[in-house]
Amino acid sequence: MAKKTITDLGNLTGKRVLIRVDFNVPFDKKTGAVTNDRRIRAALPTIRALLDAGASVIAMSHLGRPEKATPEERKLLTMDRVAERFGELLGKPVKKSADGALQPGDVVLLENLRFDPREQKNDAEFAATLAALADAYVNDAFGTCHNDKDASMVAVPERMKASGKPQAVGLLVAKELEVIEALMTQPKRPVLAIMGGAKVSDKIAFINALLGKVDQLLIGGKMAYTFLKLQGFNVGGTKVADEELTAAQPLVHHVGGKIILPVDCLAAKSTDLSVTKPVSVGSEDIASDFEGVDIGPRTLELFASRIKSHATVIWNGPVGWFEQPAFSAGTKGVAKAMAESGAVTVVGGGETAEAVEQFGYDTKMTHVSTGGGAFLAYVEGKKFQSLAQIDDK
Ligand code: 3PG
Ligand code: MG
Repeated sequence: MAKKTITDLGNLTGKRVLIRVDFNVPFDKKTGAVTNDRRIRAALPTIRALLDAGASVIAMSHLGRPEKATPEERKLLTMDRVAERFGELLGKPVKKSADGALQPGDVVLLENLRFDPREQKNDAEFAATLAALADAYVNDAFGTCHNDKDASMVAVPERMKASGKPQAVGLLVAKELEVIEALMTQPKRPVLAIMGGAKVSDKIAFINALLGKVDQLLIGGKMAYTFLKLQGFNVGGTKVADEELTAAQPLVHHVGGKIILPVDCLAAKSTDLSVTKPVSVGSEDIASDFEGVDIGPRTLELFASRIKSHATVIWNGPVGWFEQPAFSAGTKGVAKAMAESGAVTVVGGGETAEAVEQFGYDTKMTHVSTGGGAFLAYVEGKKFQSLAQIDDK
């Protein structure tokens, strides 16, 4: 059932709308400059629509994890740079405080919600102060929807609902839910999933959920070495933790059936990454002073042909260490094959989305999610308290 969206909020002329966005964007760890503004851009259609309807907008988000940051790191977690970029993209100044009168068309971005420890405790008093700021509430923070202890996601709309203030999901959340829901319930078949990234243990529930839905699952990235090692392949200096082996063990019987592993890889010398060597799985070992850093060319060819032969492709997790240009061929190749496939293509957020964007294929995908953990959790079938909060249409 679709959730109420911003057109269900009633007449917004002269009203103040509090909108939870996920502006938890990557930034330069030295300067604080925003290095990827995708999540900000993704919220603009909702914010523009609210402004066009005559409202003023009070946006709120967290940035990073201040509770774990050193005082020095914490300085970079203010919303200053985010507000600056937000204003540039919006084409109007963004205020930093909701104190005093707001005119229709005014936009505020509150300070990092997590600077107040009550945010992550779903604290009622904290929620009450936020709820008092506005006449209506919008959740357009898909990337944070799985956080059911965040006051701004749960206690705030609860509080506002109790005082009769209308609430809705924004256009971004509505779109994410529609695409991912369709993907999980009525995908065009056959369905292929591609998984990568570092840890099997982090994604075990996601992999299990996928295995129940997809026709085939290709595994690349660091996690592939865990499976390859369990298959008896000598992974050399590639680090594979024991708990990863334990996590992957119950899935090994799918290898060669639903799960397809790399047939070759690129290995790099651990002490000098400029020294690389292609390694064929099955006939060669990775040397003990080398580690696996990308899928190899034959694997890319195999993956690309599977992408071509499926009607829906879901991708989460880079298949190699793509931040290093010399090890990016696999990840870039998967993105290209998906972009050119004509299939329904859905990319889970986080670093996979960043990779796709970096290689220029984001606009050629059916959908690039803004959710990292939220995308995984939704596919796993978790129910989000933040969304349960908002009435169906
Ligand atoms: C994310 O990037 O996953 C969301 O913004 C949530 O952030 P969190 O993982 O720190 O809760
Ligand atoms: Mg997270």
